[in-house]
Formats: sequence, C-alpha cells, structure tokens
Amino acid sequence: KKLAVFVSGGGSNFRSIHEASKRGSLHGDVVVLVTNKSECGGAEYARNNGIPVIMFPKAKDESDGLCPNDLVDTLRRFEVDLILLAGYLKLIPVELIQAFERSIINIHPSLLPAFGGKGHYGMKVHKAVIAFGARFSGPTVHFVDEHYDTGRILAQRVVPVLANDTAEELAARVLREEHQLYVEVVEALCEDRLVWRKDGVPLIRSKE
Ligand code: GRF
Repeated sequence: KKLAVFVSGGGSNFRSIHEASKRGSLHGDVVVLVTNKSECGGAEYARNNGIPVIMFPKAKDESDGLCPNDLVDTLRRFEVDLILLAGYLKLIPVELIQAFERSIINIHPSLLPAFGGKGHYGMKVHKAVIAFGARFSGPTVHFVDEHYDTGRILAQRVVPVLANDTAEELAARVLREEHQLYVEVVEALCEDRLVWRKDGVPLIRSKE
C-alpha cells in the first residue's frame, strides 16, 4: 500500500515506519510527507530520504501550502491508500475525511478517551496523566474524524506510570511503545487484516 505520513515535529514515529518499510517488515511505502512546518525534523528526514514533502495547510504568512481540495487531488495523484498522522498538530479538514473515508489513522500518547482532545498534545498529555494520578497510560491508535482524538479506537498498549515519574520519563516510556504499536497496526492494515464490527468498531485480525 501507498502511505502518506503527516507530521509537525521530530517525526520519530514517521522514522520507525519508514525504517520498517525499508527493512521489508512492512508491506507499505511512504510515498509522500505532509507537514505544516517545513523545517521540522520529520520534513528534514523526508528530504534526506528522497520522500516528497508537501506543505499543508497554507500558512498565513507563506506562499507555500495547499488548500484542502488541492491536497486531496495531490494525495490521489500519489495514489495514497492510507494516511498516517504522526504528531501532526492541525485539525484534518472535512474534505480529506470524506475523500479518505476509513483510511486516516492517528497515534495519540494516552489511553483514549482519557487525556485526549484539543489542548492535550505533546508533554501536556503526560503532565495531565501524572497530575491526575493515573497508574497506567500508553498509546492509542485510532481512526480520524473531524474532531481531535474522538475517532474509533483501533489499538492500545498499556504502560505503567511510576510514582516518581517526570512527564519526560513517562513520555519516553510511552514513545517506545508507540514506535512498535504504530508499525504493527500499519502492517496489519497493509495486509488487509482489518475488519469492521457491526457497530462500527475496527478490529485487527492476528496473523494466521
Ligand atoms: C507522539 O507522542 C504521538 O503520539 C503524538 O505526537 C508525538 C509525535 O512524536 N501524536 P514524533 O514526532 O513521532 O517523535
């Protein structure tokens, strides 16, 4: 399958997916990188690896950047099957959600629906988890709808929150699991191991 990855930051999840694809342990190719920050680590990694970089959305003070319908056309031209959000901080416009129905997923660093939604991004998520006294956290991979972090859950992984954790320590523990979980989920989707339960919940079949 052909994958588009959307990033706004360092792009370590993007990197782990790209590396799995290069190793051949993922039957998908990253054909395009979409970002709202042309100088972010993820965009730099893409340029260094010969992956085309597209700016989205159009920033107010920049001439670069596509409008939603042009982005849909461009992704179609790249024959994109699956869109992976990996630390992309902008809301996905409805044009894209409709054009790529059931084909956009995101990874979030908490056990949704806890600690999700606008304002819960980056280190803020982990700070909130610690401040609340939650004993467990971990990444969630979910389908994307037009709101932040409310789409149906596809996979989760649990990590402990330790009594003296800093947000940075918890973030690092969760991120290690993110890298594994996202690759596993994308691999399953590339192998068409996704089934939809009658009530609309997506399930992954394990390998035979
Ligand atoms: C990850 O924690 C992810 O869950 C969240 O943003 C972060 C991105 O990290 N959506 P990276 O850019 O992949 O290193």
